[in-house]
Amino acid sequence: MDTPFLSPRDADLGTPEKISDQKVSLRIDGHPVVVPRGTSLMRAAALAGLSIPKLCATDTLEPFGSCRLCLVEIEGRKGFPASCTTPAEEGMVVNTQSPQLAQLRRGMMELYISDHPLDCLTCASNGDCGLQDMAGTVGLREVRYPSVEHHHLTAPKDDSNPYFVYDPSKCIVCNRCVRACEEIQGTFALTISGRGFASRVSPGENQPFMASECVSCGACVDACPTATLVEKSILESGQPEYSVVTTCAYCGVGCGFKADMKGTEVVRMTPWKEGKANEGHACVKGRFAWGYATHKDRILTPMIRKRITDPWQVVSWEEAIRYAASEFKRIQGAYGRDAVGGITSSRCTNEETYLVQKMVRTAFGNNNVDTCARVCHSPTGYGLGMTYGTSAGTQTFKSVEHSDVILIIGANPTDAHPVFGSRLKKRLREGGRLIIIDPRRIDLVQGPHFKADHHLQLRPGTNVAIINAIAHVIVTEGLVARDFVDTRCDTDSFRTWKTFIAQPHNSPEAMEPVTGVPAAQVREAARLYATGGNAAIYYGLGVTEHAQGSTMVIGIANLAMVTGNIGREGVGVNPLRGQNNVQGSCDMGSFPHEYPGYRHVSDDATRHVFESAWGLPLRKEPGLRIPNMFEAALDGSFKGLYCQGEDIVQSDPDTQHVIAALSSLECLVVQDIFLNETAKYAHVFLPGSSFLEKDGTFTNAERRISRVRKVMPPKGGMSDWEVTMALSNALDYPMHYSHPSEIMDEIARLTPTFSGVSYDLLDRLGSVQWPCDDQNPEGTPLMHVGEFVRGKGQFLITQYVPTDEKVTLKFPLLLTTGRILSQYNVGAQTRRTANVAFHSEDRLDIHPHDAEDRGISEGDWVGVSSRSGNTVLRAHVSDRMSPGVVYTTFHFPESGSNVITTDNSDWATNCPEYKVTAVQVTRVRQMSDWQKYHQRFDEMQQHLLHPGPEQLTSS
Ligand code: SF4
Ligand code: SF4
Ligand code: SF4
Ligand code: FES
Repeated sequence: MDTPFLSPRDADLGTPEKISDQKVSLRIDGHPVVVPRGTSLMRAAALAGLSIPKLCATDTLEPFGSCRLCLVEIEGRKGFPASCTTPAEEGMVVNTQSPQLAQLRRGMMELYISDHPLDCLTCASNGDCGLQDMAGTVGLREVRYPSVEHHHLTAPKDDSNPYFVYDPSKCIVCNRCVRACEEIQGTFALTISGRGFASRVSPGENQPFMASECVSCGACVDACPTATLVEKSILESGQPEYSVVTTCAYCGVGCGFKADMKGTEVVRMTPWKEGKANEGHACVKGRFAWGYATHKDRILTPMIRKRITDPWQVVSWEEAIRYAASEFKRIQGAYGRDAVGGITSSRCTNEETYLVQKMVRTAFGNNNVDTCARVCHSPTGYGLGMTYGTSAGTQTFKSVEHSDVILIIGANPTDAHPVFGSRLKKRLREGGRLIIIDPRRIDLVQGPHFKADHHLQLRPGTNVAIINAIAHVIVTEGLVARDFVDTRCDTDSFRTWKTFIAQPHNSPEAMEPVTGVPAAQVREAARLYATGGNAAIYYGLGVTEHAQGSTMVIGIANLAMVTGNIGREGVGVNPLRGQNNVQGSCDMGSFPHEYPGYRHVSDDATRHVFESAWGLPLRKEPGLRIPNMFEAALDGSFKGLYCQGEDIVQSDPDTQHVIAALSSLECLVVQDIFLNETAKYAHVFLPGSSFLEKDGTFTNAERRISRVRKVMPPKGGMSDWEVTMALSNALDYPMHYSHPSEIMDEIARLTPTFSGVSYDLLDRLGSVQWPCDDQNPEGTPLMHVGEFVRGKGQFLITQYVPTDEKVTLKFPLLLTTGRILSQYNVGAQTRRTANVAFHSEDRLDIHPHDAEDRGISEGDWVGVSSRSGNTVLRAHVSDRMSPGVVYTTFHFPESGSNVITTDNSDWATNCPEYKVTAVQVTRVRQMSDWQKYHQRFDEMQQHLLHPGPEQLTSS
């Protein structure tokens, strides 16, 4: 295994950094120190290398001043102020050590220890405990009050949370957990209940953690200096021996983590303080839901079979690769070069994705490569590419700290991008204004200490109507940022667009019957966005997964330009990418028409670069997109597919159509960690690796490239990039890499925006945002500063065209879909963790009026039917949706959420219209026909995976 990037124990400077242009000079223990104004004495001392004892202070939280351990002496002042709450001042002379201070600190520690179980040797936090450390630091040798009459030593534990335990007997009431839940996570689930000696930490109204508002982010556990809040994995496995820095493999926030290790066993994932996307915070998925990597369902041996009704045969890697290659060759010989293709995954690394598209273009000799990003953010690539010249978000996540107005469209950050959601809530608590455009009342509409100024609760499918209405107000009320538009944008395109958008049919009043949003509210929201200061837009799949997804992205880009909200901190257009490497899989040329770096395959100069590097002529015609592959499979011209790390049967729309297409293939090769829904239709199964078994990089929603580091060997014996390389070699296109860093070196040589990227650079900087090149050797946090990537920003017309998916008498409700915090996408990983304790099934949210009309009560089984198919879910009666709109998640295969969604798609990119499906909902008593089929087929496939003696003999 490679030498891991070992993380030093994070230094704790006691209180947070203060940013100020003004500096103050002082002396601490005789040392001269210069710090920004506002810096605490504790931090100033730490910066000078002097350590002051502390318990309640930590540099991720504002100081609280409760433990009194950090007392210091300041010359000319009476008493002993707490260094954590006292700001450094010009000319101060501070002493951190004296006999009197030592005596006071020992006295404090004595009180703590007198009410603490003295079981250090058997305590889970032995060696990693602030109390233990401080007892040693202050030189405590005896406790004069050994048996206080009233103590907490027998207080009962709360182990209701699946991942951590609360043991009040060890609590020193330092309040760090409460402050972490408030300041970092923004959930406010904890309080200190009781007073004086009786005070204790309490979730909610003295509830168990699982019954409280707690969302299991783990921030309180990280903040706790004792073993009061501790991970169950640490209780079971003990303290780690070393840590390796890596990147979360769930959502597009891309949080940095330390994998805390014992040998090759992960004992804890700790959010990395130096991780620039998360700065030491995490959510329940990345922090705790990593156990799937060692789940018994992992398939660790290659398997092949001739027909999908045959039992799987376990074979060697060589045989599996040979068989897959011979099948692809046979198919191309019989049906032509274009009869095969590949699908890359946004869950895989940049290097793995790059290799798959390279293999398709070279070994297959066509451009039939597409990515699961097709079904989520392809309109982002198109829309931002057309208007700004680059297919990515413009800011860092941290930029939101400078936003005055935040506009969230079709995104639910507290569930789908939780660590960014916490940053956002912090800004809102500090006074940021908020506009939400969403058919559903997401949690951000109102929360602890914030409330959205406007929630434009539009009808699904009317995004473009509302963005046009907002732009109409800005143009017709004279709110255009004239200087920005004149200097930064293409003036001809602006004039044309302005004439279009000012037309009365785009006004909020004209659009009100379409969107269902009162015109006055749209006008207020538009004025706030245009005049409220720095305004930033964050959007998600509620924007892209529509028939007009690309139009809406263009509308968003227009809006940011016309108000001058591009090219500085606190503003911008920010797509929130769903999966960990959506950005990267697009960057790596996973599209049938684009090479890495978004360059068209028909561009001769670009193609010649790749031909020369890869040593063979390449096709200049774009290949098949995923939906085209399905159509071609059904018409008999597409017969072989290599699908790496993507479950198209569960995640793509119109499941029955996908199944029919896959059933027509003669060779489906699936590379994955589990026998997912797609693999049940496969002929070759190649075991994949989890992120813990990989070396490589992910690129998050901020364009941030971060290292993924292997902490355990691939359980199936081969890394994913090695498998693709072996397949390519067997297909007679030789590849010779000895490490993913060499693949990244090739990416950098061939992709201008990545030209400065290397593993050495990533090790040095921690992460880097592309473009990273000669002009920006340490990356580009902010895009389009001074000039758009394409030169002048381009305004484009965004005519609202209603979707074909309309409510009818037969299908009178509109279904829209989304995610929930504890589950991730198709759920293959999170369903195999204790996260099922939070969410164990997909439900249909239905408004009380619609439920009452249909005689539906909470928990009833309901049939949901569309023109594509029908399925059965349990009902959750909720007024988060407006009447006429129903909502579900899609994390469980048996739910069949995508059996209902249709084959409608975005006009420019074919991104499916997941967010609008006309449905009927009725009470039912049994599963749908599709669910019965799914259950039977699943049982059969499980049986074929573990055949009985008769099948083994016959095979
Ligand atoms: S786990 Fe997170 S949400 Fe739950 S109490 Fe702790 S900090 Fe608050
Ligand atoms: S649970 Fe931990 S962090 Fe919270 S008050 Fe007790 S000791 Fe401090
Ligand atoms: S916010 Fe996203 S990247 Fe961060 S820990 Fe959660 S799932 Fe992982
Ligand atoms: S660390 Fe300053 S009062 Fe606790």
